[in-house]
Amino acid sequence: MASENIIEEKKQGQALITNKKDGNTKLLFIESYGCQMNLNDSEIVASILAEEGFNTTNLLEEADLVLVNTCSIREKAEQTIRKRLQKYNKVRRINPNMKIGVLGCMAERLKTKFLEEEKMVDLVVGPDAYRDLPNLVKEVESGKDAINVILSKEETYGDVSPVRLNSNGVSAFISITRGCDNMCTFCVVPFTRGRERSRDPQSIIKEAQDLWDSGYKEITLLGQNVDSYLWYGGGLKKDFKNASEIAQATAVDFSKLLEMVATTLPKIRIRFATSNPQDMSIDVLHSMAKYDNICKYIHLPVQSGSTKILKKMNRQHTREEYMELIDNVKKIIPDCAISQDMITGFCGETEEDHQETLSLMEYVKYDFGFMFAYSERPGTLAEKKMEDDVPLAIKKRRLAEIINLQQAHSLYHTEQFIGKTVEILIEGNSKKSDAHWMGRNTQNAVAVFPKGDEKIGDLVMVKINQCTSATLIGTRVNS
Ligand code: SAH
Ligand code: F3S
Repeated sequence: MASENIIEEKKQGQALITNKKDGNTKLLFIESYGCQMNLNDSEIVASILAEEGFNTTNLLEEADLVLVNTCSIREKAEQTIRKRLQKYNKVRRINPNMKIGVLGCMAERLKTKFLEEEKMVDLVVGPDAYRDLPNLVKEVESGKDAINVILSKEETYGDVSPVRLNSNGVSAFISITRGCDNMCTFCVVPFTRGRERSRDPQSIIKEAQDLWDSGYKEITLLGQNVDSYLWYGGGLKKDFKNASEIAQATAVDFSKLLEMVATTLPKIRIRFATSNPQDMSIDVLHSMAKYDNICKYIHLPVQSGSTKILKKMNRQHTREEYMELIDNVKKIIPDCAISQDMITGFCGETEEDHQETLSLMEYVKYDFGFMFAYSERPGTLAEKKMEDDVPLAIKKRRLAEIINLQQAHSLYHTEQFIGKTVEILIEGNSKKSDAHWMGRNTQNAVAVFPKGDEKIGDLVMVKINQCTSATLIGTRVNS
């Protein structure tokens, strides 16, 4: 059957593209909040529902089914989603047949509470239950509420081909692991996304090949913790020790997976996220150094520069071990960009701990950063056992200091590109001007330059003349 994708203007949370399949008559409005994995999950959901007669729409008012894929990582993320639910319910007054469903982490965390207390939704589906959507949607259409929040030890949606709603036609996400076993004490993800499991490498290669064949130039391999990817035939990682010798001998870890993708598709750009310092191996760094098409960029969240706080967070490394890993990155891949996630004001964080975070940042000089004030999450070990004792004003002040320092470091890095010529993959129009292209270099730095005869998806050489802390500004040079 023919399928058509229409690029539309992206609004907050909303998909970039709508999916139309001949013969489908019902309309699905799907929004995603939170991480890239949620964006990719929504693409899986749209694919499952396309088989059930649903095309996607970007017009809330005309939808038969409204789904919001939710994030629980911080309290603010949940507040945003509650506001969206209120909005949907207002629209429902003019379209009373509209059904409303909640997907993802909030669905998993709040379960039946959504149906009982809020009465704002008809459908609640956790991240491992999307295959059950056809049944659940039928129940909802017959006027009942429906819920499935069962977490799985196997589900990877490996055989579902996502419809690309959140893509510019150049870069796309491929999920390679689901869940997380790390149990950082502040983090709700292990509770909402369940146990860690890896996807069959052959299905990953096939998805990457299909993307390349349909014109995509860049893939991002996704997981809560990609470095602990391990395939030996399925199941949980902890069972690996009991797996047969053959399964152990032929197991594929993350560095091998990277090599498999890099050699099968030598022209596709490969990115990955997220790495966890405790699981990142030197082999991964060597694979990155060996293959030009693996982008020279690592997102390596640290959360704090203080060993005392890292321990309280149940991060399995010290400040010194993290610094050693950074030294190795810089030694093995000298031009590699590194970014961080930081949490300020975690339980028991003193001014001294905060200074250690700042000094670690000075040591690493990150290219980018994602920085947050600690937000206590119900059900986590930190919520149960530790006191959220840093006053909000202090969390905010420390956060501002961290953000300021990061900006200075980001500027330092972008300035290093001035006068240099870098290879840019064109992703689309610059946000500020249709007369300029926007793209990224291998280090994930954003570059803009005046349009010529190039097109989206082209790899071009751009000489950088100016910059801000977030953007390189240049002109194309012929290579
Ligand atoms: N491994 C994951 C991390 C998910 S959470 C990944 O794929 O990105 C993303 C970031 O949110 C974390 O690295 C952390 O910095 C932040 N975060 C998680 N829980 C938080 C909390 N309770 N309060 C504030 N920030 C939090
Ligand atoms: Fe959360 Fe730590 Fe896993 S931050 S997603 S529990 S690595």
